[in-house]
Amino acid sequence: MGPIRGVLAWQSVTDALLVAGADRDGRGELAVLDLGGGTGADAVRLAGLGHRVVVVDPSPDALAASARRATESGVQIQGILGDATDLAEHVAPASFDLVICHGVLEFVADPAQALESARTVLRPGGWLSIMVASRVAAMAARVAAGDIAGARALVDAMPDATWDSASLGPRRWLQVELDRLVAGHGFSPVVSQGVRVFADSVPSAIAEGTPRERAELVELELQVRRNKEFAGHSAGLQTIARLESVATT
Ligand SMILES: C[S@@+](CC[C@H](N)C(=O)[O-])C[C@H]1O[C@@H](n2cnc3c(N)ncnc32)[C@H](O)[C@@H]1O
Repeated sequence: MGPIRGVLAWQSVTDALLVAGADRDGRGELAVLDLGGGTGADAVRLAGLGHRVVVVDPSPDALAASARRATESGVQIQGILGDATDLAEHVAPASFDLVICHGVLEFVADPAQALESARTVLRPGGWLSIMVASRVAAMAARVAAGDIAGARALVDAMPDATWDSASLGPRRWLQVELDRLVAGHGFSPVVSQGVRVFADSVPSAIAEGTPRERAELVELELQVRRNKEFAGHSAGLQTIARLESVATT
């Protein structure tokens, strides 16, 4: 078992694969778009499971790294220099079974616009997996650091295009806001869960400890992540949603 953060990040991807129709081992032939796929860590593993993978990212360096990673792993992925605003210029409408957008909405100019782009490139009944950073966790970190004013500034901040990242840092969500966002673009949330509910709080001696200690921590995460009370404390929030209809807002 590798580092805990990586294990749990990959778990969130395989959860989306299973919901989207891959087999128990995550294998299949889904058309997957990794929007903001970065250096391709997930994309390469997805391709290794048999899926057809396209990475769209605005960073030429990240795309070059993902191409190198794919070559070294002996798999094929398609890298496209683009972003959430110009997806339609690069990929055909209704051409993907699954869009993965993990750790990206924090940085885009307008999350609603990104959701609209994802909707357009998904086939009807296709799946969207979004993971974002939690506002509760961000506030707890500020409080723990003695920055009470900074925590207060986040209480009512809306994670939409009005978010002031110059003063607030990257955008942060509550689960209810994330679910509302996807529902507003024709998606039905099917899974809402925490990612790293407790993992960021454990001492590094355990997080980097024996395989048994790390396996136990992963088991704890799996046990609590879909319980709202526990998931409210997690560092990351994930929603897996199905495209049901055209946008209503
Ligand atoms: C924190 S990384 C996440 C990478 C990967 N998805 C993961 O989960 O490890 C954020 C990525 O989003 C990309 N990004 C930033 N703005 C974007 C936008 N407007 N559209 C698409 N991707 C964007 C960045 O280039 C970067 O690769």
